[in-house]
Amino acid sequence: MTSMSEKRVFSSRLLSCLVAVSMFFLILSCSLLFRAGDSSLVPRSIYNLIVVDGGSVEPKSSSCKEFCAESEPVKRVTSCDPSQALLKVFMYDLPPEFHFGLLGWKGNLNQIWPKVGNFSDVPRYPGGLNLQHSIEYWLTLDLLSSLTPNVARACSAVLVHNSSQADVVFVPFFSSLSYNRHSKIEGDETKSTNDILQERLVEYLNSRDEWKRSGGKDHVIMAHHPNSMLIARWKLGSAMFILADFGRYSDQIANVDKDVIAPYKHVVRSIDPKNSPPFEERPTLVYFQGAIYRKDGGVIRQELYYLMKDEEDVHFTFGSAVGGGTRKASTGMTASKFCLNIAGDTPSSNRLFDAIVSHCVPVIISDEIELPYEDVLDYSKFSIFVRSSDACKDGYLLKLLRGIKKEKWTEMWENLKQVAPHFEYQYPSRPGDAVDMIWKAVSRKVSTVNYKAHRRNRYNMSKKFLNVH
Ligand SMILES: *[C@@H]1O[C@H](CO)[C@@H](O)[C@H](O)[C@H]1NC(C)=O
Ligand SMILES: *[C@@H]1O[C@H](CO)[C@@H](O)[C@H](O)[C@H]1NC(C)=O
Ligand SMILES: *[C@@H]1O[C@H](CO)[C@@H](O)[C@H](O)[C@H]1NC(C)=O
Repeated sequence: MTSMSEKRVFSSRLLSCLVAVSMFFLILSCSLLFRAGDSSLVPRSIYNLIVVDGGSVEPKSSSCKEFCAESEPVKRVTSCDPSQALLKVFMYDLPPEFHFGLLGWKGNLNQIWPKVGNFSDVPRYPGGLNLQHSIEYWLTLDLLSSLTPNVARACSAVLVHNSSQADVVFVPFFSSLSYNRHSKIEGDETKSTNDILQERLVEYLNSRDEWKRSGGKDHVIMAHHPNSMLIARWKLGSAMFILADFGRYSDQIANVDKDVIAPYKHVVRSIDPKNSPPFEERPTLVYFQGAIYRKDGGVIRQELYYLMKDEEDVHFTFGSAVGGGTRKASTGMTASKFCLNIAGDTPSSNRLFDAIVSHCVPVIISDEIELPYEDVLDYSKFSIFVRSSDACKDGYLLKLLRGIKKEKWTEMWENLKQVAPHFEYQYPSRPGDAVDMIWKAVSRKVSTVNYKAHRRNRYNMSKKFLNVH
């Protein structure tokens, strides 16, 4: 009896053991197959191609609206070692009316900067479309936090108090906000606040030893809104500007050799890479929402509208991105495979960055566009570029986009998910986010500018002592 039951137990054990072993092999072969499929879709090496400097991107899963810092508390607290920082920055203590005063902030008597240790206490940048150009706010906050204990941040840039030890001199003027909020002449004033601030800024800089020492070449000035610094730009052109594009600048004042292009802050919400709809779940082929009739380079929008408006899987409509429009745009882009970025009255717009954080493959139709950090980021891995002259040919664009099948699209979508964190502005900054990427771009630009300056010095000794040329 006992031996019988023992035997039965034994055989049932054997059976379950066999089942377990075969399950193990099944899972193993499945996972091998899956991984093979995965790596053939997106070779690892592509990521190395995309970010040449190896800028580490911490996967960020929060879907933040305006201020990412709130949605995720900072757990890890480290402080930067200034000697290890890529960029040492000296910042002028400009009076608050040039920066946080424009946000309505008032400190104590003689207090120039708000305390930034706790983001809840930091004055907010106005929302809506102002936010697109809020780079001035994020960069300044980041510098202030570099000297604030207990703020864990990306440590590419640190403030130094001695300007002789700095790589660059930072000019903390919130020029975009000044343009957006204070361009009107009020009451019986003869000049707008925006004009007055710019004039005072020029005067201030010209009086500073730091400016005189370098002729302004090592100064960093933020002018992200295309119409900001309209007066001062002509007098401060030797400095390094941080811009959205070069559309409204002459080549002498702004150019790729000395200036840095920064992304717009996107206005739609970012989607979590884990919940990003794949190919099948994006029913719309092409999405565009914006002003259709624009002056200057925007004629092409009209032409494209008439070419595509009758297609069933094309969403091409009028609409602005304010208020409910933002939510609609977000839903629309997330439901689309491709998102159009067509030159408007400036070569760039926030639409590109809205598309990137919606993981909607950007189709860039803007011949004069300049892209942020393009020296380290290969946009062709996750965007499609179409010349304006081609885009206007009947059927060209739709044939091209319909020709991009699931496999190719998915490859670009995977890459988009990888690069999207490079376009997030947040406080505190994180390695690989927009703030960090901009500091790194500034640092590379400093190298280029220095390289050229050093070459100009080559024969100065012979000139000086022998008077030869
Ligand atoms: C930050 O400030 C808010 C409101 O002022 C407060 O509730 C919160 O506890 C503060 N956080 C820290 C870490 O001090
Ligand atoms: C600033 O740095 C320079 C060069 O390192 C040094 O000669 C100078 O004494 C410093 N100034 C102050 C006020 O510490
Ligand atoms: C050396 O000469 C060049 C050209 O004449 C001039 O631009 C540069 O400022 C000089 N450098 C120094 C350190 O004097």
